[in-house]
Amino acid sequence: MDIKEYRIGFIGMGTVASGVVDALRKNGGLISSRSGLKLTPVAAAVRRLDAKRDCNLDGVEIGTDPMAVVRNPKVDIVVELIGGTGVAREVVMEALRLGKPVVTANKALICEFGSEIFAAAASTHAGVFYEASVAGGIPILKALREGLAGNDIISIRAILNGTSNYILSQMGKGASFAAALAKAQEMGYAEADPTLDVDGGDASHKAAILASLAYGNWFHSDLVYTRGIRDMAVADMEFAAQCGYRIKLLANIRKDSQGRVNIAVEPTLVPEDSPIGTTMNAYNGIKICGDVVGDTMFYGQGAGRDATASAVLADLLEAGWALSSGTLAWQSGFTRFTGCTGLAPHSEAFSRWYIRFSVLDTPKTLAHVCGAIGDSGVSISSISHKPGADGAIPTMILTHKASRAQIEAAREAIECLSVTDGKVTIYRLDDLD
Ligand code: HSE
Repeated sequence: MDIKEYRIGFIGMGTVASGVVDALRKNGGLISSRSGLKLTPVAAAVRRLDAKRDCNLDGVEIGTDPMAVVRNPKVDIVVELIGGTGVAREVVMEALRLGKPVVTANKALICEFGSEIFAAAASTHAGVFYEASVAGGIPILKALREGLAGNDIISIRAILNGTSNYILSQMGKGASFAAALAKAQEMGYAEADPTLDVDGGDASHKAAILASLAYGNWFHSDLVYTRGIRDMAVADMEFAAQCGYRIKLLANIRKDSQGRVNIAVEPTLVPEDSPIGTTMNAYNGIKICGDVVGDTMFYGQGAGRDATASAVLADLLEAGWALSSGTLAWQSGFTRFTGCTGLAPHSEAFSRWYIRFSVLDTPKTLAHVCGAIGDSGVSISSISHKPGADGAIPTMILTHKASRAQIEAAREAIECLSVTDGKVTIYRLDDLD
């Protein structure tokens, strides 16, 4: 087999990039014999020349100027792994202007500036490859674009942030939120700014990308209903467990009967014995339902050096194949199609719900509370109500399906009742059927 060589320039040589270089050194022979491609790291731009690097950089020119790497005539493919939307956006746009394919793991960049980036890639017939931006090592973008290409996608339910899943797994064993976050940071899971992990921003970027590929519209993450896990209490995990549920930070992407898409990322009760419910620690789990295939489940490490490097390698091979076969023009990164009719308002999101509050132990308390919930059009499925030590009775209600608007109306009504303490916690509940 003729082997074609493509030379790679890295923007950033941190954890993931060093994993890519390592894997190319380790599996280069296998990759060449499988693909007919030789992928050779030749240049890298780094922030600090003296930083210790966790890979063999022999033969790689190292400098501090990202644009010099992009414009280096020896570089055929640019790998952007610095993150952020400042310098990263400039280098990606310059690479595409020069007609060089770009591989990136940068979900914020793709999510926020996707339209501009894909237009640039289309106009110069360069390619944009971003498998590593969603769910680390799980090849979920390829699954949606290729493996499930013949399906109308009915729904996607997914754990897309490993850090928050790790924190919730620890809280399920009784740890406080603060202690679990500190442990996640110690393990190296959390983003540099853990706000993105725990407040749902990271998962919401990833959900917007998945929804865009599933439904053919480019959805900005501002359109995602986003609620993180910062306020979660161990008590809620315990209540959920009593009913056979676990609470996960779940992305819920679905198309309604009118063809409108709703995208939400929020703490959600899921059956504890389901594949999503048993996705623990820093793992990601993605359930996609297509009209032809039915349910599919993807599981794997959603973050980390080698898992993310695996996705970058796959993209490098795809970029190399496109270069060698002259098909790069087909790789603009995103092509619109008519997979949906638009967006459904968040107020119409239709689901079961979990409600928790405390009430006084007085006559007709439950009658008042249940009346308020029923008056909001919400039907109760079960109620748990056990006296506590201080006279206040923790009460947990699981509902049948109702809209988000109806459950918010129920919240207001309960909060106004004099028999409650005015604090109502509500989470979505998804039986994943
Ligand atoms: N910090 C992310 C996570 C990984 O915990 O899943 C990168 O997106």
